[in-house]
Amino acid sequence: MSKAHSVFRCTECGADQPKWGGKCDTCGAWNSLIEEPVGRLSGSAVRSLPTAKPPIRLTDLKSESVTRWKTGLAEFDFVLGGGIVPGSVVLVGGEPGIGKSTLLMQCAARLESQGVVTLYVSGEESPDQLRLRADRLQEDAGRIHVVGETRLESILHHAAQLNASVVLLDSVQTTYTEELEGAPGNVGQVRECAARLMRFAKESGPAVLLVGHVTKGGGIAGPKTLEHIVDTVLYFEGETTLDHRILRAVKNRFGSVDEIGVFRMTGAGLEPVANPAAAFLAGRSTGASGSAITALMEGTRPMLVEIQALASKAGFGTPQRVATGLDHRRLALLLAVLERRAGLPFGSLDVFVNVTGGVRLVEPSTDLAVLAALVSTVHDRPVPADALFLGEVGLGGEIRPVAGVERRLVEAARQGFRRVFLSARSQRTTSDLEVIGLEGISELTRRLAA
Ligand code: TYD
Ligand code: MG
Repeated sequence: MSKAHSVFRCTECGADQPKWGGKCDTCGAWNSLIEEPVGRLSGSAVRSLPTAKPPIRLTDLKSESVTRWKTGLAEFDFVLGGGIVPGSVVLVGGEPGIGKSTLLMQCAARLESQGVVTLYVSGEESPDQLRLRADRLQEDAGRIHVVGETRLESILHHAAQLNASVVLLDSVQTTYTEELEGAPGNVGQVRECAARLMRFAKESGPAVLLVGHVTKGGGIAGPKTLEHIVDTVLYFEGETTLDHRILRAVKNRFGSVDEIGVFRMTGAGLEPVANPAAAFLAGRSTGASGSAITALMEGTRPMLVEIQALASKAGFGTPQRVATGLDHRRLALLLAVLERRAGLPFGSLDVFVNVTGGVRLVEPSTDLAVLAALVSTVHDRPVPADALFLGEVGLGGEIRPVAGVERRLVEAARQGFRRVFLSARSQRTTSDLEVIGLEGISELTRRLAA
């Protein structure tokens, strides 16, 4: 192939650069340029335009409410915004082994049982291997049509022949189109395949569910470009060693973003968790010091999480600070505030903080719970088991109100919590919890010592 047929494409923003460099000139990302053959094969270069539909007035369109296919996997339907929208393209991303193929197969099985025709295309497993997975599931997957195929043209052909209403493609990285040179999985191929599937879905009406593998860096190959193309992007996350999995909507043209669904991986496939708000509290050790509970918002849903802290006498040298599920700089800041404003001796202590269930704290509203866990471990005195902590902590040791208090408290009350430590400046709440308003952290330490 001649050099004229290569460009260097940024895997972050998709921009083309004429020559290779360590940094993308367009978005500034480092080490993101890869060589990309772009030559189209002769013959397909000139494609006849499809007869386009003429423009029409919006009022001339039938305003039928969008029908959705509910899969009956409650948490999956919830994250999608109420079910699968016909003609939409949904990308399900996640690390290998997290359960993407399992989720899609269960989804297909449930749709088939309602009479929705599905086609499961696998470029990763043979139909025999798919059968082995299907046999494990609690759903009856026997009616799903499966095909082991990686060529997009054949996939579209099969889907049209079968008149499938939902096409599940596992995965976008193993699929290639003949119209582009280059191996499956490279950015050009992934983007082109996704764009063609999008066109197919919009023109012919089936919904397409795409599996996308996430690279170690956290993105799907050609991540940004792919996210722009499809209608909905869901990420499947979780620790492969723990049995619960979180499905998160990061983009949704037909629902709200940041919604999460919680599943448990069982011996018979994925099972929606019945009480997701308390899913991460399972196995909580009440009565031990160094544990505090907070409520964080995941989309529109409050979730309760446990924060554990352990402080122990440091050996020689700089004391250790180990934070799991929380930014270590945030921990350093909170320790400094506790040391300066409440006189706790963290300078001579090793500190370990862990958020249970593999959750990551991103909201500052969880600060107060981290402090409570730290104070509790230093004094080796458990915090009340029925207490919730909600508040952001400032450098002056002041405790600030957080947004959406009401919804968090309603959920906490439902889960059996009886009191809540909040900023004294929080709005009055109408929940049944006993409210303990705090001005600053010295009040917190005093209350917890009492
Ligand atoms: P899989 O869906 O193959 O993950 P992905 O497609 O994201 O790579 O599932 C991965 C893991 O799930 C695998 O290690 C086996 C486990 N698993 C169960 O625990 N129970 C089951 O019923 C099934 C089908 C899989
Ligand atoms: Mg798979």
